[in-house]
Amino acid sequence: MLPPLFIKWQNKNNTGIQLIDEQHRGIVSIVNSFYYLAEKGMCNDALFLSITKTLKSYSLIHFIVEERILKATEYPDLAKHIETHRKLSLETKRIEYEAIRDNDPMLLLKFLKKWWIEHINGEDMDYVPHLRMYEENRQI
Ligand SMILES: [Fe+2]
Repeated sequence: MLPPLFIKWQNKNNTGIQLIDEQHRGIVSIVNSFYYLAEKGMCNDALFLSITKTLKSYSLIHFIVEERILKATEYPDLAKHIETHRKLSLETKRIEYEAIRDNDPMLLLKFLKKWWIEHINGEDMDYVPHLRMYEENRQI
C-alpha cells in the first residue's frame, strides 16, 4: 500500500500568494517525510535531530519572508503575527525536547500538524485581504 500522508494539502490551505503557498507546502512536505520515517520506526536520534533542524531552519526562512512581506505592505497586525511566530519557535523547542526525552516523535508531529494547519488557515488567511487590497491599489 502506498504510504498515507500525515497532512493532506487542500485547496482551502492556499492563500493565493504563490511564494507563501509554496513555502507552506514545503513545510508540510518536511512534516510528511518526518511522519513517514517515524511511522516506519526509522527515526533514530540522529535522523530526528536532522529533520527537526531542517524544519526549524526552513520555518525561520519562511517567517522572515512572510514578515518582510507584511512589513513592506504595512500590515496593521504585524506585531501580533510576529509574536505568533516567535511563540511557535519556543513551543517547538519545548515539545521537541519532550519528544526526544520520551522517544515519542508523534508528540512533536501532532503538535506541528495542529499548529501549522491552524496558523495557515487562521492568522495567515487573516492577512490575505490586506495583501490583495495592497496589490490592487498599487496597480491603480
Ligand atoms: Fe504566519
